[in-house]
Amino acid sequence: MAIEKILFATSEAHPLIKTGGLADVSGSLPAALNALDKDVRIILPAYRTVLDSCRDWKPIAHFELPNVNEPVRLLEGQLPGTTVLTWLVDIPSLFDREGGPYHDANGLDWSDNAQRFTAFCRAIEAIACAQIVPDWQPDIVHCNDWQTGLAAALLSQHGERPGTVFTIHNLAYQGLYPASTFAELQLTENFWSMHALEFHDQLSMIKGGLVFADMLSTVSPTYAREIQTPDFGCGLEALLRHRQDRLLGILNGADYEAWNPLKDPYIEHPYDANKLAGKAQNKAALQTAFALAKKPRTAVIGMISRLAEQKGFDLLLEALPGIMKKNVQLVILGSGDKKIEQGLRDASASYPGKIGLQIGYDEALSHRIEAGADIFLMPSRYEPCGLNQIYSLRYGTIPVVHRTGGLADTVVDLTPISQANHTANGFVFDEANASDLRAAVFRALECYRQKNVWRELVAQAMAVDFSWNSSARRYLDLYRIAYELSH
Ligand code: ADP
Ligand code: GLC
Repeated sequence: MAIEKILFATSEAHPLIKTGGLADVSGSLPAALNALDKDVRIILPAYRTVLDSCRDWKPIAHFELPNVNEPVRLLEGQLPGTTVLTWLVDIPSLFDREGGPYHDANGLDWSDNAQRFTAFCRAIEAIACAQIVPDWQPDIVHCNDWQTGLAAALLSQHGERPGTVFTIHNLAYQGLYPASTFAELQLTENFWSMHALEFHDQLSMIKGGLVFADMLSTVSPTYAREIQTPDFGCGLEALLRHRQDRLLGILNGADYEAWNPLKDPYIEHPYDANKLAGKAQNKAALQTAFALAKKPRTAVIGMISRLAEQKGFDLLLEALPGIMKKNVQLVILGSGDKKIEQGLRDASASYPGKIGLQIGYDEALSHRIEAGADIFLMPSRYEPCGLNQIYSLRYGTIPVVHRTGGLADTVVDLTPISQANHTANGFVFDEANASDLRAAVFRALECYRQKNVWRELVAQAMAVDFSWNSSARRYLDLYRIAYELSH
């Protein structure tokens, strides 16, 4: 049976609401599936920022949900810049508030996150069973990360139901809550079992997806293998090994409409592989923006990141004294963990004129860094896929990465062999420690000085293609299998 109708359930989607790469994927994979003639609808909570972003949301249904004591509305609109239909689950007391999707303005988790995402999942369940929009029933519900995990569990209780797919974008975020929360949510008793949602006496929302979805995927082949081991499995490795015949790694694609140095509206000087002069001008503009000396032959290393333990900033800080002895400038844009923010502030104060730091979230600046930097650093301790190294390749900004997850699957280290067969596109280090990181940066800087070698590396990087085309087809295969397993 060909899969036609897909309900794509997510807690963020660019350009409506974004905290990280999940939003990039949720904003671009549905569009890629649409381009393959599939009827995809995104379903998202009606956060205040999303409601405010456009006036065109139209109510198409009113309904009630268990444990929610106000009427719920389903709003319909389009994902801006695409023709993808988007549904918002509008429950004002849960979603219409000032702050982020998961945190308040002080960066603390909303205390009612379990209630918020359980209500969201109940709405997904009802819609998937055609109880809310009777003339549209999906063949597949595609859930993403813990916020949508319960939807797969709830749907598993129905005799006739769509197939379910659960994609792990980051196994470390699990939606864990005390046992007392489980009781408050009024979920069926059967779910309180180690074979269901219970995890070391806590409620685990991600287990809803991992245990009950017909098929599982994650966002790179290497991460799919890594999460079956104790080092990366976050305590869930045995479950994932148990379900390994249902687990596939599908590499994320990039949206090359949004990330194309020739058409990027955020950058001043468009360029492509044949006309690299613009890149040098963007570099000068970036140096100016960060109050760094405008030196064309000084390598600029860029970083754009959530500031989370995952991203390896501790390794960078340890390696920094060595790196800062070189002719180099470092430009960092990020926000998140307050300790990491402070560590970076201290570092930039220690090396005046060499480090440009902006704490915060800034879409435009992120594009300018991709365009203006020479080198892009991602020392992630783990990285399910990673998108910035993929964007960097397209912008001719050579990635230096730790060999893990999607970084290992997308960046080809410069070695005599990869240089000879013209496949090199970056620098990869094997162990997550400061000396390996420093050595990889030194190799990149050394190569940067050899103009011809660097030029070829940039050309190879810019030619690599990680568009959605092939990955979207792999999702369709996954959907087909999930559908067959559910019927
Ligand atoms: P993750 O999802 O783990 O944060 P990814 O590499 O998959 O990592 O995706 C990160 C996305 O978020 C990219 O689009 C990146 O440009 C963006 N991003 C991260 N931090 C910032 C920031 N401070 N300002 C603007 N964009 C950011
Ligand atoms: C997660 C991962 C990141 C991945 C993104 C999109 O946030 O940390 O590696 O690229 O999801 O799948």
